[in-house]
Amino acid sequence: MDLKVNQRRVMDELERLAEFSDAPAPAVTRVVFSEADLAARRFVKGECAAAGLAVREDAVGNTFARWAGAEPDLPAVGTGSHIDAIPHSGRYDGTVGVLGGLEAVRVLREAGFQPRRSIELVMFTSEEPTRFGIGCLGSRLLSGSLDASAGERLKDGDGRSLNEVRQGAGFDGSLGDVRLPRGYYHAFVELHIEQGPLLERKQIPLGVVTAIAAPASLRITIEGEGGHAGAVLMPDRHDAFLGACEIALALEAAAKATGAIDTVATIDTVATTGVCQVFPGAVNSIPSRVQLAVDVRDINEARRNHVLDSLARACERVAAARGLKVEREVLNADAPAVCDAMAVEALTAACAEQGTGFDKMVSRAYHDSLFVSRIAPAAMLFIPCRAGVSHRPDEYASPEAIARGIGVLAAALRRLAG
Ligand code: GLV
Ligand code: MN
Ligand code: MN
Repeated sequence: MDLKVNQRRVMDELERLAEFSDAPAPAVTRVVFSEADLAARRFVKGECAAAGLAVREDAVGNTFARWAGAEPDLPAVGTGSHIDAIPHSGRYDGTVGVLGGLEAVRVLREAGFQPRRSIELVMFTSEEPTRFGIGCLGSRLLSGSLDASAGERLKDGDGRSLNEVRQGAGFDGSLGDVRLPRGYYHAFVELHIEQGPLLERKQIPLGVVTAIAAPASLRITIEGEGGHAGAVLMPDRHDAFLGACEIALALEAAAKATGAIDTVATIDTVATTGVCQVFPGAVNSIPSRVQLAVDVRDINEARRNHVLDSLARACERVAAARGLKVEREVLNADAPAVCDAMAVEALTAACAEQGTGFDKMVSRAYHDSLFVSRIAPAAMLFIPCRAGVSHRPDEYASPEAIARGIGVLAAALRRLAG
């Protein structure tokens, strides 16, 4: 069967999707349930409907576009990703898996393929943690990794609850109904840009993902004593920002030291302090309170946890040494995922069929597949991206590489949906 990807059609759609943004091009900002996100969802749903797919949404806004198979009661084959984008990021992260998944479905339809199992494209809600603090909100709820009551307790930075925000966006119903049963999907394959440099560096066309790293994120609140920047003498200060600096540096040191406890001696835990909010935020006022958001990841969960323990000790040490109050809230500390052998095999066979070279690799970024893998056989396909750049406006994947990924995805869906 000749699978002809319409490169121009999908690149046009990616370009149009990038226009739904709260940042000037080439940057993209599309935070979940913002006007830009809702308009982008409408655009994607319209494209799915135009392709003849039946669209439904759940209570958190996960969107499912289904091509009914000849045996519609069989577990479906899923594909998809997310379209939300962190502040000031690029246009390919997630979107390539959604619009590429849609293009793969169209390619199969145009080739005259009639699936036995239904094929379902999923656009997950809030893969990015920007608004509610934890990533993969939609896929966590869908897989039961986050229960509905914990989901209901989530609040955004303005103190608005997930329930209030989703209902305001038109997503009613109970969060408890979002969960899908194990066995709903026969297999799930997600197409995504690599977000790292390895494929490009090794000149390998595609990556087949065999495992997804374990992410953790924390909120750390440091309270000290504010005061006049001129009048309070240095020995009398309890500067919350300086405590925050020491904690961030201790975290960096702990991550860098992980090589020492790894038998292969590779430094592999990565740790980032990506948010630092200083109160009251005036040049002539000693910081009284700081809120940090911290992200720690590793493919090895024990090693990641070792860094989290070091961070906890650093918080206690800095609090005692500087007379500060430090509170740590672990928002999530997830286990890694090992991809399913059958789903991986479908992707490697599809690469062979399409005459495309590939490497097996681990994903150091997290993805909705991390959580889908808790209820279904899942695997991922990576497209190289320029210089490994992602979460930046200059994120780029070539149209040829994207089309190659879609061709292999279509071939894998055909195998899986039989
Ligand atoms: C996903 O966007 C991640 O941060 O890995
Ligand atoms: Mn991302
Ligand atoms: Mn992504």
